[in-house]
Amino acid sequence: MVNLDLDQFQEQTVLLKKQFRDKYPKFEDRFKWLEEKLTEQIETIEEQNSLGKSTIPELDFHRIENGNVDEGVIQQIKKSGSVVIRNVFPRERAEAWFQSLEDYVQENDYFSKQKEGLDRYFSDLKSDRPQIYGIYWSKAQIEARQDEAMAKTRSFLNRLWDFESNGKKYFHPDRECTYADRIRMREPGDQSLGLSPHMDAGSVERWLDPAYKRTYSKIFETEWEKYNPFSGAFRYEAEGIDSPAVCRAFRTWQGWTALSSQGPGDGTAEPGRAQAVTAEWHSLLLRGLVSIPRVEPGDTVWWHSDVVHGVEDIHQGNQMSSVIYIGAAPLCERNQTFLERQKPCFLEGRSSPDFAEEDYEMDFQGRALMEDLTPLGRKQMGFDSW
Ligand SMILES: [Fe+2]
Repeated sequence: MVNLDLDQFQEQTVLLKKQFRDKYPKFEDRFKWLEEKLTEQIETIEEQNSLGKSTIPELDFHRIENGNVDEGVIQQIKKSGSVVIRNVFPRERAEAWFQSLEDYVQENDYFSKQKEGLDRYFSDLKSDRPQIYGIYWSKAQIEARQDEAMAKTRSFLNRLWDFESNGKKYFHPDRECTYADRIRMREPGDQSLGLSPHMDAGSVERWLDPAYKRTYSKIFETEWEKYNPFSGAFRYEAEGIDSPAVCRAFRTWQGWTALSSQGPGDGTAEPGRAQAVTAEWHSLLLRGLVSIPRVEPGDTVWWHSDVVHGVEDIHQGNQMSSVIYIGAAPLCERNQTFLERQKPCFLEGRSSPDFAEEDYEMDFQGRALMEDLTPLGRKQMGFDSW
């Protein structure tokens, strides 16, 4: 793993761009060609949207359990980089988690503690009540993360990647490392800002990190059509910049589990189809952003870690909407290192090491403890070996 030198990154980027221009003088023609291809795809998405059809493939969990997922659906998932997997958990169970999360938040007086925390971090925003809560260790989250159905779902998704070649295993698709993430709860009418379209797993690292450069080598060689986003060959070696805004684990998929019904207009996440985010530079890609279809408690939503996504600004729905963020981070050296950093955070109730050190849960009643981990959960958290 390589630690990136932030002081040098501007110089390094300038140098790289110069090398690129010298080596690929026809890159502008190639980029036009790529734009045409993208435009065709985006027009298809827009057409489907105007007909009220979702372009995000859907799949029932029982098909994964029974091992009979259609090849056509797999191709759709790979093409769109996203999927809704329904009925991973029974509705009643997801609703019970919702209730227990609400109780956990209320009984521990989360909001007044959060307000103090926000004074520290974002003093201008303190009147707002942000929808993403710095909660990592509730029993509901632990139960959902370590559940067998969740393990099967992630195993299926990890196996859509190329995880080994020539006898070298890049990661173990059936062994998961828990990446503790937060929860989202939105009240009806909540107008606090959503999340503008973005992709996680870093930004300038993609230009500078040696492992990332190899991951995207076909893109840097202007052979975009040959790029395989599902190759696990180098990603597990890429090291992000140390920052609360960057994910330092290797995630094959990001995702969330719905604890309440939610659909377009309810302020949900919107996976897009590509890697970038601003109207100034990426207006074409932004046209491809679509809403998640309606989901019910127990359904899960997944997107490839390079897919652009966001959260709608206004929650227009009429009920509280809630999700637990649970992605897929298969066992590899990078994730094992991450687990070592995460373990003490769990034991002490501190924030997950990838996020701001708000540490709200240290004295929370009802927080999950070691005794709440199942044998599978202990392995996923790195306390037992596989
Ligand atoms: Fe994100």
